[in-house]
Amino acid sequence: MSQLAHSTAHVAKDHKLSTASQFSKAAAHYNSHANVQKQAAAHLIKLLANKNQQGVCLDLGAGPLVNTALLQQYFATVVAMDLSHAMLNTDKSREYLKLCADMDNLPLQKNSVDCVFSNFAVQWSADLPLLFKQLFAVLKDNGRVYLSCVIAGSLHEIKQAFSCLDDQSRINQFHSSDNVTQYAKAAGFKVNFAVDTCYTDAYKSPLEAIRSIKAIGATSLHSNKKRQGLLTKQALNNVCKAYPLVDGHARVSYHVVLLELEKQ
Ligand SMILES: C[S@@+](CC[C@H](N)C(=O)[O-])C[C@H]1O[C@@H](n2cnc3c(N)ncnc32)[C@H](O)[C@@H]1O
Repeated sequence: MSQLAHSTAHVAKDHKLSTASQFSKAAAHYNSHANVQKQAAAHLIKLLANKNQQGVCLDLGAGPLVNTALLQQYFATVVAMDLSHAMLNTDKSREYLKLCADMDNLPLQKNSVDCVFSNFAVQWSADLPLLFKQLFAVLKDNGRVYLSCVIAGSLHEIKQAFSCLDDQSRINQFHSSDNVTQYAKAAGFKVNFAVDTCYTDAYKSPLEAIRSIKAIGATSLHSNKKRQGLLTKQALNNVCKAYPLVDGHARVSYHVVLLELEKQ
């Protein structure tokens, strides 16, 4: 293995550990903050409920198992998969099939799954085109994917507020909606449904808005750059002053593409 390939593998491993750790820290309180995630999930479940579903469903990036529980109404078997062990252990009230694994290295057999459901998770993939190829491979013929993916333009308020400090982006780079759809098509999927939408949360203060990002575990940088250190109190004050307000509220916008894909 070349030195570059070797060091990149280390960064990728560090990045995965960091992502898992961020989400694990957020696990206990994630559900009470995940308002927009719940809206997107409801939209996907509605799409899915209109079709005659059966067999095995994979909830990819399942988080605190809220959607997994709903999916159990539609499928005989639902497997909840997540990188974060703590997320998968959030709900001990009922039985779940759980798999703690990395979506970039799907540990599933080819042609073994009837449906993949994934809400607000695949934007964490280190290689989205490859992920779609892997999803295509594990699905059976006529299998479907229902997913929401956070796309470019998201968290622009946070980005604007932090730009008062320097020109380093503190938020992840997201794929464009067109790119996400193209990756799915390139993997072989037929796109039955593709809609861009924007979900917005509104907070009483910029500080609450900034904390909401942490509360859902989305603070890990996606690039290979080292994460910036903690903000000083003064810097945080400046960021809060620079936060754009609408009707006195600090909004946090998530642009999302909702997709239904089919393996034909
Ligand atoms: C924003 S949460 C969404 C959780 C849930 N799907 C929902 O709708 O609330 C994203 C989830 O993706 C998981 N995740 C991030 N990177 C992952 C990866 N590489 N493989 C598997 N899961 C991952 C996180 O641990 C987290 O639980």
